[in-house]
Amino acid sequence: MDIGIFHTSDEAARAAAQIVIEKPHSTLGVATGSTPLGLYAELRKAWQDGRFSASSAYALDEYVGIDADHPEGYRNVLRRELLGQTGLTGETLHTPDGNAEDPVAAAAAYDFAIGAAGVDLQILGLGSDGHIGFNEPGGSLVSRTHVEVLASTTRHDNARFFGNDPEAVPATCITQGLGTIMEAKVLLLLAFGAGKAEAVTHLVEGAVSAAWPCTIMQMHPEVYVLTDEEAAVGLE
Ligand code: F6R
Repeated sequence: MDIGIFHTSDEAARAAAQIVIEKPHSTLGVATGSTPLGLYAELRKAWQDGRFSASSAYALDEYVGIDADHPEGYRNVLRRELLGQTGLTGETLHTPDGNAEDPVAAAAAYDFAIGAAGVDLQILGLGSDGHIGFNEPGGSLVSRTHVEVLASTTRHDNARFFGNDPEAVPATCITQGLGTIMEAKVLLLLAFGAGKAEAVTHLVEGAVSAAWPCTIMQMHPEVYVLTDEEAAVGLE
């Protein structure tokens, strides 16, 4: 595990963009939430300068049952952030179908598609409870893409995107499983702010355990963890 601690999240985002640009990236895995936004801004700049172009990307997760045109649906967030500004198009940016009649079947189909494509580099954020994707504490460490019930901590954390009302945050999502995420060739995780410090400590120094799902990343051969100083306060 390669750990970089930066003064600011902007510096970390620039370093993260450099990793994405330098590594083979014909298929990217892309996270949502607030953490990767600085990185996506850097990738848009790099695309404008002709230093970067993405060929295809697979989202980590999507809320189940969210209105197709809801601005906080992850498909819509990623389209706003990446489409037409990083090389990606509507055909090459893939997201799980959160409005499928059968979300379980949609999750399985998405898992199959990711496996067939093979993710070169997976971008990850980190939940304050240690989730990656939306793999909440207590689940399988080798899960495939599946329907997950969001932890109440996560619904509280994400309420800021839904009028500060945790009840307005969808209760379930389709998420890549930990086993699926671990198949990506490179994992690049960003974590910013004091609220992530406990999870970062477990990720880097804790025992591998379903209680802190991010700890499974210790078993991956090529992991980059970039944090700001606040998120790293618990590291020895
Ligand atoms: C998002 C995702 C989540 C977030 C995590 C942190 O696609 O899979 O794991 O990365 O909840 O969210 P933020 O970045 O908003 O703190």
